[in-house]
Amino acid sequence: MPSFANPFSGNIDRKISNPELLQALRLDIAGELEAIFIYDAHYHATDDPVAKTILADIRDEEKAHIGELMTLMRHLDPKEAAFFLEGEEEVKEMLESMNLSEHLIPKAAGPTVGSLLKERT
Ligand SMILES: [Fe+2]
Repeated sequence: MPSFANPFSGNIDRKISNPELLQALRLDIAGELEAIFIYDAHYHATDDPVAKTILADIRDEEKAHIGELMTLMRHLDPKEAAFFLEGEEEVKEMLESMNLSEHLIPKAAGPTVGSLLKERT
């Protein structure tokens, strides 16, 4: 939940290292997940069609923010990207073993983990 009692609580008095930035990005992702949870709860709590449309749109924008942050993390730390890919592959294998290949994760329209890794090498 927001903490506005101290408007400077998020300020840092120096530039941070990339490992520290990765930690900060994990916190940012947690914030996006919390926002999705809250917008979705409010979406389900109303029958007003305009409110539902707007809340769903905002909720889905937060999902896109997670994608942006995850892609930034992959760019900053290729080792972390390898773990993400490992998890993705594990799920793909499980879906294939269950004959649910049609549920495979669609390819992203933008840069992929693989393309970002190639850029760094
Ligand atoms: Fe967001």
